[in-house]
Amino acid sequence: MSKPGTFYITTPIYYVNDVPHIGHAYTTIAADVLARYWRLRGRDVFFLTGLDEHGQKVQQAAAKAGIAPQIHCDKLAPQFQDLWKRLNISNDAFIRTTDAQHKKVVQRYLQELFDKQLIYKADYSGWYCTFDERFWTEKDVADGLCPDCKRPVEKLSEHNYFFKMGQYQDQLQRHILDHPDFIRPESRRNEVLGFLHTQKLGDLSISRPKSRLSWGIELPFDNDYVTYVWFDALVNYISALEYLPREKPIGNRFWPANVHLVGKDILTTHAVYWSTMLMALNQPLPETIFAHGWWTVDGEKMSKSRGNVVDPNKMVDEFGLDAFRYFILREVPFGQDGDFSQSAMVTRVNSDLANGLGNLLSRTLTLIEKNRSNQIPQAGKTRAAERDLQQATVTLLNETLPRHLEQLEFSRALEAIWQVVQIANQYVDKTAPWNLAKNESDADQLNTVLYYMAETLRCLALAISPFMPTSAQSICTQLGLSLDFNATMLRSPLSWGDVKAGTVIRKGTSLFPRIESKPQGAKPVSDTPITANPVPAAAPTTTTPTAAAATPAATPPPAAPQQITIDEFMKIQLKTAKVISAERVPKSEKLLKLQVSLGTEQRQIVAGIGKKYEPDMLVGKTIVIVANLKPAKLMGIESQGMVLAAGDSEVRGLATIIEEVDPGTKVK
Ligand code: MSP
Repeated sequence: MSKPGTFYITTPIYYVNDVPHIGHAYTTIAADVLARYWRLRGRDVFFLTGLDEHGQKVQQAAAKAGIAPQIHCDKLAPQFQDLWKRLNISNDAFIRTTDAQHKKVVQRYLQELFDKQLIYKADYSGWYCTFDERFWTEKDVADGLCPDCKRPVEKLSEHNYFFKMGQYQDQLQRHILDHPDFIRPESRRNEVLGFLHTQKLGDLSISRPKSRLSWGIELPFDNDYVTYVWFDALVNYISALEYLPREKPIGNRFWPANVHLVGKDILTTHAVYWSTMLMALNQPLPETIFAHGWWTVDGEKMSKSRGNVVDPNKMVDEFGLDAFRYFILREVPFGQDGDFSQSAMVTRVNSDLANGLGNLLSRTLTLIEKNRSNQIPQAGKTRAAERDLQQATVTLLNETLPRHLEQLEFSRALEAIWQVVQIANQYVDKTAPWNLAKNESDADQLNTVLYYMAETLRCLALAISPFMPTSAQSICTQLGLSLDFNATMLRSPLSWGDVKAGTVIRKGTSLFPRIESKPQGAKPVSDTPITANPVPAAAPTTTTPTAAAATPAATPPPAAPQQITIDEFMKIQLKTAKVISAERVPKSEKLLKLQVSLGTEQRQIVAGIGKKYEPDMLVGKTIVIVANLKPAKLMGIESQGMVLAAGDSEVRGLATIIEEVDPGTKVK
């Protein structure tokens, strides 16, 4: 059981073998939301994140850069620290496993287990995967490849030190069965239970000979060895509590942790290695280990070699900080895998943020500015519509939001908040304050509506504050309120009516500017331009189109970029296609209608190449097409893709492939 009144949350400590990406940002933002939420609820929160700086991966990255591992770590650490500042992460501490104090704790624990004879030396021979830094048995390895990462493994035989992990198998199984929330989500819990039920848990090699790997914490009982990086890394969750909290001594105020957030790939190391290590050290186990899913990018695994790694800094540059924080937790239920695409992000920003919450704030401020000289009026008589709005808002803050956040259901929490945003916008549409403003006799009702809009926004700011702290602050500032979202504001149930009548609003810039679809530089080979990267239309706004209720003014799109990033380029799917038939489009000099094969499917493409080519010349040719272009009609004929050709206003030659390749082959 974790300590009452406290909340200890951790992220994995990230390897410093490369710069941070969206996967790292995902866990850290999720942890930040929980930390902020529990601070609002009045808990004494300790939020830890940091870096895993030892081991083979880091040693190899440093060697590749031609520098010493410590220098490599010191160079990369600020990239993570700066990113967390930029993403508004409110971590209380940042651990680096090369910290001298951490090393001491690791050595102390190793010595304790060694003295208890829970660590022994033995011969070991097996298949070693350098990437995963672990041994596999004969039966695990097929075709000489690591069953996990599919990279080649090598046969290694060496003396090592082993932790008697196997002897805790029954105890661990019992613990998982007795504590339904220990491993979450349930599907992952079942996976671990299944594994423990069907396989014998072996002992864990916790050392690496220095002759093979020197970058690690020396074993206190044998200086020819360093500690296995996972033993070293997992200890961070406790070692940090010894030396990083600002107020000292904190004793064991925070242990056991409430939540270890991890990705699904590192669940076993946490649920099995860490749990058994804690059992051996007579320490209580964390309350929950929550394994989230992985992000793919445009349907593909994210990897450096594919060049599709999403840099969170770029997302913030392009879409804004809070839009990124919102998207990453709204788009996919926590625990499931999700796909990242810029177009999905644009849709969310425009429909949920600009048209939804941004619009509610903008129409509220404009109506108060125009009709009540910038002062929030005193509410007058209330009717059923006000009572319904109040009820929906109070229920959100007092019941729905706590329920979802306690279950780590971030996307459902956001969905619930946006339901209230929608209810509030519908309330405005229905009560039509712009009409009430026309008749002096409706002044009392107008006051009520304006007050209810402002008060709902105050409550919504509170609800979004763990997710989007900057926007929450901006809503309050623009409403003329001063709220401290780092203070305990949700210890007791929310009370309605805290906005004081007479408060002077301070209308500022639009909260979430709409993202306009950007014109593309490429000129398609057709009569009418087709946007190569169409941005989906935003969902219809609930706004009634009056001057007072207008959506926030769109900021002008940035100047057309001269260069695009690799991420942007990777969104365009180029494929080879074989022309099966070709004919002229009646009444057009320029357009040809092609039927092309992509191997597994046939497409019709209308291309503006008729001045250069006779249809018959094209049959049998392998050409290159843009395969993921939204279908468009040219002279009433549907075109399901675009042909690539050289030339500007005049086509000079078709892009073809010299070698024979199968139709449907990817072109990069
Ligand atoms: N150093 C270890 C963790 C030690 S914790 C005691 C490690 N580091 S890591 O940098 O490789 O990965 C850190 C986290 O990033 C993991 O939780 C992993 O699941 C997560 N992600 C890496 N790629 C990811 C995605 N594509 N999507 C979501 N999360 C991903 O493992």
